[in-house]
Amino acid sequence: MTEYNYDSANEAVKFMKKFFHDTPQTAIVAGSGLGDIADMIENKIIIDASEIPHWPRSTAPGHAGKIIAGKIRGRNVFMLQGRVHYYEGYSMSAVTFPVRVLKMLGVNEYIATNAAGAVNKNFSVGEIIAVKDHINLMGTNPLIGQNEPRWNVRFPDMTHAYDKKIRGLLKNFGLQEGVYAAFSGPSYETPSEVKMAGILGADLVGMSTVPEVIIANSMGMKVCVLSCVANMAAGISPVELTEQEVIDNMKKTSGKLADVIVNLIEKLNSGE
Ligand code: HPA
Repeated sequence: MTEYNYDSANEAVKFMKKFFHDTPQTAIVAGSGLGDIADMIENKIIIDASEIPHWPRSTAPGHAGKIIAGKIRGRNVFMLQGRVHYYEGYSMSAVTFPVRVLKMLGVNEYIATNAAGAVNKNFSVGEIIAVKDHINLMGTNPLIGQNEPRWNVRFPDMTHAYDKKIRGLLKNFGLQEGVYAAFSGPSYETPSEVKMAGILGADLVGMSTVPEVIIANSMGMKVCVLSCVANMAAGISPVELTEQEVIDNMKKTSGKLADVIVNLIEKLNSGE
């Protein structure tokens, strides 16, 4: 069984360095049905994730499993098309392994996208929400286990888990902000769980991203998460939730999401 430890991450880093000479500062993770946002990358170099030593492979629908290096508006970026999820049966160490590798390659900005259900009734399907904080309801934490001091401190601070400056830029684009509550899935939440999440202060529910955000923070990366509202959450939605509806709605949103990311990268590049 693969060990997702420091040495295996180093092997993945060495392999990736053979392909990618300019280490990008920014990584973008494309969530369910959002893989097409790779179209905006120029001068692409593409690696199949299955070729990278130890890299976990996604079994989820809508996740292509490719790593693309290239440029957006002159800025070197990495795009991860697809991620692995805890609900696929992967350990938290596997789910967060790519973040470890990215940081070891020199990436400092972690931009993640995901599909989410809206708890906040002011949000609508197809809207892109900037995540401002999260509530981890997955029942575990990716930092549980023996600490690796070469990676992170034992007790990382999470006060500013979502970079304030990037959030400010996104607000200027007119995006609403929200708190993302992560459940393990893969069943969607019950209406009572959605109600609970709302009472706790959540605006969105989803099954991903939070483990990676915890690790990215623990390693000192700047984090930005863009959630695409795929559906109103259970009990709020007038229809039953299906995976197909989620993927179809994400495909419809991916153009808008690509625009937000390009505009954000442009601002980051100009140092604003
Ligand atoms: N709940 C959890 N995850 C999701 C949802 C949802 O309603 N929609 C898309 N991903």
